Amino acid sequence: MPDSRPIGVFDSGVGGLTVARAVFDLLPFEPIVYVGDSARAPYGPRPLQDIRTFALEIADYLLSRDVKMLVVACNAIEVAAIRDVTDAAVLPVVGVIDPGARAAVRATRNGRIGVIGTVATIASGAYDRAVATTGASVDLFSRPCPAFVDHVEAGDTSSEELLGAARKYLSPLRDQRVDTLILGCTHYPMLSGLIQMVMGEDVVLVSSADETAKDVYATLRSLDLLMGTRAEPRHEFLCTGDPEQFRSVAHHFLGPGVGKIDAVAVQPVRGGPWS
Ligand code: DGL
Repeated sequence: MPDSRPIGVFDSGVGGLTVARAVFDLLPFEPIVYVGDSARAPYGPRPLQDIRTFALEIADYLLSRDVKMLVVACNAIEVAAIRDVTDAAVLPVVGVIDPGARAAVRATRNGRIGVIGTVATIASGAYDRAVATTGASVDLFSRPCPAFVDHVEAGDTSSEELLGAARKYLSPLRDQRVDTLILGCTHYPMLSGLIQMVMGEDVVLVSSADETAKDVYATLRSLDLLMGTRAEPRHEFLCTGDPEQFRSVAHHFLGPGVGKIDAVAVQPVRGGPWS
């Protein structure tokens, strides 16, 4: 039966909008409720236990909004909590790591893939496991890029300081002659111009956003949860931090079409810490 409930999409901040945008492009009639936990971003340097607590709080909020599916548009949340979110949700839950790994395996020609992400994601080894699951015989080289998310959240995608950090983080991957680089953090597509410049034009950058949107479509379709009508949907963009700051950065991701951003306070669940 057609289902007019919205899709819940969440991230630590603005990064998940890269995934939301791919979902809009593929499924233009599906309404989305987006939550960015900008008051507590970045998640990447935090202990997994904290990220898990925050993720459950946001999932709990989205469930209270009667969403039909959850899209974990954040690698760090996926490594820390996707199992718990899936158990708590009793709804379809789609993540970003497997879609990104699959796309990279398809794209590589020399079998040498790089992956960059936050400290939490890279330390978890999640991409090593996701690539192994594809069964492809490839080598994966990983690098954390801890400063990137702060720059993106502040709206900086091109400063000299950021370029210097990118050169430092990425030069070992250039030395490894990777021909494909997974952007293993949903904030990083905002830096794709800078990353491409440092890596060289021949390296294919893989963002999981488009692949994830395909998974969203396939999942909704298989469960008969697609929106039945072709009306213009009403999306909601919510953040836990300053809505004005969020809106100014969100423009980079979604263009001036981003309407109002509302503040939301998610509540602790199961006695988790709220700081
Ligand atoms: N965008 C998130 C990710 O994909 C996390 C960024 C952060 O808050 O550190 O990993």
